[in-house]
Amino acid sequence: MTTTARGVGARGVDSPGRATIEARTLRSDRWWLPPTATTLGLLTFIVYATVRAFQQQYFFADERYLTPFYSPCVSLGCASEPGSSHFGMFLPDHPLLPYAALTLPFLLLFRLTCYYYRKAYYRSFVLAPVACAVPEPHARQTGETRFPLILQNAHRYFFYLAVLISLINTYDAIVAFRHPTDGFVVGVGNLVLLVNVALLWCYTASCHSCRHIMGGRLTHFSKHPVRYWLWTKVSALNTRHSMFAWITLATLILTDLYVMLVARGAITDLRLIG
Ligand code: FES
Repeated sequence: MTTTARGVGARGVDSPGRATIEARTLRSDRWWLPPTATTLGLLTFIVYATVRAFQQQYFFADERYLTPFYSPCVSLGCASEPGSSHFGMFLPDHPLLPYAALTLPFLLLFRLTCYYYRKAYYRSFVLAPVACAVPEPHARQTGETRFPLILQNAHRYFFYLAVLISLINTYDAIVAFRHPTDGFVVGVGNLVLLVNVALLWCYTASCHSCRHIMGGRLTHFSKHPVRYWLWTKVSALNTRHSMFAWITLATLILTDLYVMLVARGAITDLRLIG
């Protein structure tokens, strides 16, 4: 049971008029399992991505594979791996400044303000609410109507930046087919980069903001057949947005792991062509 006094001024399950139930919850299923799994999954990604972003090593393999955690490589430190930078090197080489410091903060904000991730971390980290029919520990909840959570509304703008970054990842995947001395080659790493970028597009295109951009604010779909068609496609993807949110966390880690292992010489990239 919550510790808030019942009666006038009390909130949540202790508000006047709410049934007096002594048990913390009447749910007998394992309702704590999804928020616990979500916490572990998100923490795993946060720890891995943070370590890799600051490692500043093993980010470029076979003179053509650039891990997405270092894209675009815009630090002066990228010079340690010739060919890893395609958009200039202008940020200082500092241990506390990731080589992709230009994009990582926006990718983080894009995911952090994502409608699906909000639900996931509100439930798992903030416990607001932790599960249906389980009282949350907070006495007060103002939702996303006030600072700082009102800033979640900036998600649509981070979406535009995420599209730009996905285009850069696509460019990385395409130029990876060209080896500086061997010319056109295809290795397993190319397939890894391609699958990763395709799934990143699925996640980005299935965004709720993207769906709104395609078909929002229209009075008559019949007068906008192209936007209607795009809206139906994005809507179909949108039903799987949470799935893409999790899959892309996994594929980002696996792609980076592959590039890192090849770069360290722990494994050899299998050449399929060239
Ligand atoms: Fe998840 Fe936009 S709603 S990325």
